[in-house]
Amino acid sequence: MAYTKNILITGGAGFIGSHLVRLMLNKYPDYRIINLDKLTYAGNLKNLTDVESAPNYAFVKADICDRNAINDVFEKYEITDVIHLAAESHVDRSIEGPMEFVMTNVVGTVNLLQAAKDFWKLNIVSSGGNVFHHVSTDEVYGSLGAEGLFEEVTPYDPRSPYSSSKASSDHFVRAFHHTYGLPIKISNCSNNYGSHQFPEKLIPLMINNIVHKKPLPIYGKGDNIRDWLWVVDHASAIDRIFHDGRLGEAYNVGGLNEWTNIDLVKYLCKIMDQKLGRAEGESAELITYVTDRAGHDMRYAIDATKLETELNWRPSLQFEEGLDKTVDWYLENAEWIDEVTSGAYRDYYENMYQDR
Ligand SMILES: NC(=O)c1ccc[n+]([C@@H]2O[C@H](COP(=O)([O-])OP(=O)(O)OC[C@H]3O[C@@H](n4cnc5c(N)ncnc54)[C@H](O)[C@@H]3O)[C@@H](O)[C@H]2O)c1
Repeated sequence: MAYTKNILITGGAGFIGSHLVRLMLNKYPDYRIINLDKLTYAGNLKNLTDVESAPNYAFVKADICDRNAINDVFEKYEITDVIHLAAESHVDRSIEGPMEFVMTNVVGTVNLLQAAKDFWKLNIVSSGGNVFHHVSTDEVYGSLGAEGLFEEVTPYDPRSPYSSSKASSDHFVRAFHHTYGLPIKISNCSNNYGSHQFPEKLIPLMINNIVHKKPLPIYGKGDNIRDWLWVVDHASAIDRIFHDGRLGEAYNVGGLNEWTNIDLVKYLCKIMDQKLGRAEGESAELITYVTDRAGHDMRYAIDATKLETELNWRPSLQFEEGLDKTVDWYLENAEWIDEVTSGAYRDYYENMYQDR
């Protein structure tokens, strides 16, 4: 079958990538989806078992830093578009070891940009109908005080090695647009939650620890604020921006849903006490305050007006409903957690705390 697009999705075995691959395969049978992933600790093909036999799906195990492998994929699958998610994504790991973040998030991204530029044979006047969509984070904007929201025009001010590497990759994506005419789009999203998230991140870590009656580590006083968005809604926003967003533009994606970490964890404790048949307040007793993360950003909050007004996108779920679904998924998929956290990862992730 001749496909109308051959879309390379990088990082498709990870948390957000797997939701995006699923959405694209189900919604666009006339697109071929090529999922390229190195399968680091954060990537797991089990995230895609429900769609892996789709006729329009292909998986390639490769590192985005490997230029030859990337060239081969562009040629073999005649890649028309890229949606780039592959990244090292864990802030605490970036504090322990920034170089891996530079390699994958910066060097790997430039590698992909070069491959797309060369393969699409672009010039400054013609985009050729191709799109290179970079999936990025609101953390590139730095940290907010009590007031205000991140807008697309907010100056970049990254604070952690992770956000610095993502800011750098955003700059390279823009530079390839301005210098070579590469048809790019960027989306900068707030914190995602949902099924299939590696349990080093705040929500699945807390759910898992509540189930096993382990301490619930809270950085500092727990008053850091994050804006939470259901991962399926992020995937739908990427779909909308990829198809209808303007070339060369960035779009903020967020849920207008701010929570302090401590309120969020207390709320999780409350609903899980009910679901697990525990006495009210039992799980909250597990809350343990720990030394704050170095350079911990205080508040992230997104102004998504551009995406709402230009592309008519809104989140589909209220947070309480999304969290309820999410908790149920982790309770029903205990073996998934055991599997992804087995072996070498277990010791590491059990000592890590994270609010992204
Ligand atoms: N999780 C969030 O809340 C959030 C919010 C905004 C933006 N983002 C961005 O969205 C993207 C996906 O985030 P996520 O939370 O799904 O991350 P994740 O850590 O769950 O998944 C990352 C995926 O990338 C793959 N990968 C890592 N290095 C690779 C390499 N060198 N070559 C090929 N594949 C590689 C991993 O195997 C994994 O499947 C990232 O770019 C992240 O910066 C995440």
